[in-house]
Amino acid sequence: MSLFRLDASILPATSASRSLADLVEREWLTAHPDSVVTRRDLAADPIPATAWADAVTAGFVGDDERTERQREARALAATLADELIGAEALLFAIPLYNYGISQHVKTWFDLAYTDPRIDPQGTALRGKPATLVTVLGGNYAPGTPKEGWDHSTAWLRRVLADVWGLDLRVVERPFTLVGVNPALDAFTDAAAALKAKAETDAVAYGREVAATRRSSAA
Ligand SMILES: Cc1cc2nc3c(=O)[nH]c(=O)nc-3n(C[C@H](O)[C@H](O)[C@H](O)COP(=O)(O)O)c2cc1C
Repeated sequence: MSLFRLDASILPATSASRSLADLVEREWLTAHPDSVVTRRDLAADPIPATAWADAVTAGFVGDDERTERQREARALAATLADELIGAEALLFAIPLYNYGISQHVKTWFDLAYTDPRIDPQGTALRGKPATLVTVLGGNYAPGTPKEGWDHSTAWLRRVLADVWGLDLRVVERPFTLVGVNPALDAFTDAAAALKAKAETDAVAYGREVAATRRSSAA
């Protein structure tokens, strides 16, 4: 029994995404105290930016023609895929940076996706229970001035749920910069309510995922 957890905050000491993911993880470990948690921290240990192209181009030549870098990239892609395939449940904690995902996250996704076991025809990840925690400094909800500027959450839903086929739950906490950026002070009450809702969702989804595995393992 194992949980795979991916973190992507570049500021772990104050990370809202990590705090919410901790709530999900706690529910998982409460239900499965002997479970292993496999961790990958993309900010502390970034995937080399060259690995994706090396892994892709390695697929166009025979094994005996591959460069050392191409071999290493393929091996790393297999490790990333092993982490996803080997876990009973998945947890992703991913902040919004510059209106999208960080290059850390994109490189991780792209490289993992080169592994043939998790391509769109693959079934290795289909139906696997997963929780995505997404945190946004601002608020991009319908009717807000920057509606549509969050290009992270929709993309993550698309690739994790629709492309990889995960059974995905999403915990979303907007307005994490309220209390940090004085220009957002008018939104203190709204931000507190959104934080409370995200924490409630994190606990509920953590329990749900843990129970999903318990009943399917029975
Ligand atoms: C370099 C950088 C870029 C950011 N870009 C955005 C952004 O485009 N939109 C936004 O709403 N928040 C942005 N933020 C705020 C983060 O999304 C917010 O602080 C979030 O809580 C970070 O995740 P963490 O708390 O898990 O570290 C940015 C933060 C940093 C450090």
